[in-house]
Amino acid sequence: MKREFIGLILAAGKGTRFKSDRIKLLHPLLGRTMLGMVLDCIKKLGPQKMLVVVGHQQEDVVQEAALYGAKPVVQAKQLGTGHAVLSAKKALASDGEKDVLVVNGDLPLLRPETLRPFLNVHRKQGNSLTFFSAELPDPTGFGRLIQPESGPMRIVEEKDATPRQRKIREVNAGIYLAKVKDLFQALPRLSNKNKKGEYYLTDIIEVMGELGKKVGVYKSSQTDELIGVNDRFEMAQALSELRMRKIKELCLQGVTIQDPATTWIDWDVRIARESTIHPYVVIEGDTKIGANCSILPFVHIISCTIGRECRILTSTMIEESILENRVQVGPFTHFRPGTVIRSGAKVGNFVEMKKTVFGRGSKAGHLSYIGDAEVADDVNIGAGTITCNYDGVQKYKTIIERGVFIGSGTELVAPVRIGREAYVGAGSTITKDVSPNALAISRVRQSEKPGWAKKRARKKK
Ligand code: UD1
Ligand code: MG
Repeated sequence: MKREFIGLILAAGKGTRFKSDRIKLLHPLLGRTMLGMVLDCIKKLGPQKMLVVVGHQQEDVVQEAALYGAKPVVQAKQLGTGHAVLSAKKALASDGEKDVLVVNGDLPLLRPETLRPFLNVHRKQGNSLTFFSAELPDPTGFGRLIQPESGPMRIVEEKDATPRQRKIREVNAGIYLAKVKDLFQALPRLSNKNKKGEYYLTDIIEVMGELGKKVGVYKSSQTDELIGVNDRFEMAQALSELRMRKIKELCLQGVTIQDPATTWIDWDVRIARESTIHPYVVIEGDTKIGANCSILPFVHIISCTIGRECRILTSTMIEESILENRVQVGPFTHFRPGTVIRSGAKVGNFVEMKKTVFGRGSKAGHLSYIGDAEVADDVNIGAGTITCNYDGVQKYKTIIERGVFIGSGTELVAPVRIGREAYVGAGSTITKDVSPNALAISRVRQSEKPGWAKKRARKKK
């Protein structure tokens, strides 16, 4: 019979080996936290509810858990993984007949596909407790599985193991499924008489065996998912595995990724078919990229929405911005948050924009700063145009209506509005609104002193 299960994720430990001021499990991996990766995986298995054991930096951990609909239980002192599970006793008081899936919070590579057969085996065998094991080429750091000819199985932690036991390559992964009632009957029997002076959850295997409960082991071949991230090198290894997983997923969906070794794409990024990502590209956050786009080398995109057939040329950075379809950007363009580039627009070399809507088919080809502006359709912004949007205290808006031509080297002192189809002469400093269809020009008239240079040259002699 299919028993309901509850997810219980252990996330109270500081992560001493990580040597960080921030709790280990809140460090990011491709735009999600390590804990977030685990919670997402367990959620996909359809638990009846999810609990997270919190302790160290608990306010932040509680917030993160809430994003995945998980509720906290507090472990006031971190006395070991067995003690951590005991902290959930009250929260599970009325769930005695259900199963609880206990997972260490530092297993960010776990996939639901790997855990599903584990749940099935537990149910099929009618076990009180099933734990997850694997045979690793290098078992260093893991608890080793001891299977005596007679008597119950047990786990021995590396610190407590004899040199001979350390040679065992079958290890405990840190994932357990147990009937709630049986688990809480056994937990008070754990002792902390070991090298670390902690209540090890792993001892539950032997204790439940001794109590005559049915204990099973599920040995998996998915060894690459079982990195328990204890230090920053293990995090780097987990990151590199996840990165390739994401890149492979995109490639199989029809995205060309020319050089996986230099491409970084966050976990929540979506890219449509026939788009090409060139080498040395970083795409972060919840960015969405449409079909048939080209992203050229050294582009950095953070949380943007990009439409179809866009070209982002080299060394461009765009943050929290929207690009509609057939937009061309770069090289060396910077869009700061709140920029919207409408379809068919073109923004080129050394142009910075911020909180600006830039209309359909409009162009800003070179060396400009456009901030807090509304630029309508078919506008031409000449090289070196600057919106002077800040007076040291407040920000002001620049509005440029449809079909306007701004000559090169212009300063638009906001607040200011340039009327439809108007022209602004090159080199102007515009401080007042310009009427539709007018030509505004505000530069000193050119004068000439004939022969001046020659006279000067003579004086020098
Ligand atoms: C644990 C297992 C080990 C296994 C390995 C797999 C124990 C005693 N050992 O070792 O057999 O091979 O995982 O990766 O369980 N935590 C708490 N409260 C505490 C202590 C820890 O919530 O008091 C949490 C941590 O935040 C972490 C998880 O439990 O997410 C595991 O703790 P960790 O210290 O990483 O255990 P390992 O030494 O890796
Ligand atoms: Mg660990």
